[in-house]
Amino acid sequence: MTLTDDSKLANMERPDFSRHANQAATAPAYFSVYDIHAYYGESYIVQGVTFNVHEGEILALLGRNGAGKTSTLRAIARVGSPMLTHGEVWLDHQPIHTMASYDAAQAGVGLVPEDRRIIQGLTVEENLQLAQIAPPIGWSVERIYSLFPRLGERRKQEGTTLSGGEQQMLAIGRALARDIKVLLLDEPYEGLAPVIVHEIEKTLRHIKEQGITTVIVEQNAVAALNLADRAVILDTGKVVFDGTAKEVLDNEALRHEYLAI
Ligand SMILES: Nc1ncnc2c1ncn2[C@@H]1O[C@H](COP(=O)(O)OP(=O)(O)OP(=O)(O)O)[C@@H](O)[C@H]1O
Ligand SMILES: [Mg+2]
Repeated sequence: MTLTDDSKLANMERPDFSRHANQAATAPAYFSVYDIHAYYGESYIVQGVTFNVHEGEILALLGRNGAGKTSTLRAIARVGSPMLTHGEVWLDHQPIHTMASYDAAQAGVGLVPEDRRIIQGLTVEENLQLAQIAPPIGWSVERIYSLFPRLGERRKQEGTTLSGGEQQMLAIGRALARDIKVLLLDEPYEGLAPVIVHEIEKTLRHIKEQGITTVIVEQNAVAALNLADRAVILDTGKVVFDGTAKEVLDNEALRHEYLAI
């Protein structure tokens, strides 16, 4: 039996962290993911995920390896795989679940995938300019450089030759170059030294101050929780906790059970 079985509520020996889960769906939110289910072929991976994010909020989407975090972000961004078969995703009153990935991006979904996807053969500046080749255009290139001065210093350098941290900055900068309404970050701190993580953290706080709504997926759960207002924890494709980041930081049993920290 796993903790996400329906029988879990009857199992008095196991703590019930799901008390907040699914309640939020009743309140309209700026960004609302409601009961989404998604498959890779026959593999049923995202198994009824619901959460809400308020405008300007940072939500940490956490869980162990293989919990379904990346799959959830991909299903939301409508990238095709996994295939979204059920559920709704609303962003600022627009039904993202009815859209293809291109339209979801046009509607303001800014996915920064784990592998960062810096385009080979293009400079830093060209990577940013390419993002602005068609409307809706977001932050100007100069504004992105003021957020990430390292990118400004390296504007003529080929993007793929940047350090890991700089490539992550470029990937975030490229998302901001579009007029996005929600920033979906998949493991932005992966493989980065603590000092660089700290630098990116600072910029994510600044981005929040500009009113951008963010969902951050991170293995570095403590860093994500320190940044986030709220947290959702996934386990085997289901929400097992939905509450404040502080509740997770303060709840050792919960952290141990689902985050191994
Ligand atoms: N392309 C795919 N085809 C089939 N199954 C997949 C595919 N990608 C992921 N899965 C499976 O879906 C489940 C969830 O994977 P996912 O990558 O969403 O987890 P995750 O929470 O992002 O994990 P991690 O922390 O390791 O990045 C895993 O069991 C994984 O093996
Ligand atoms: Mg992942």
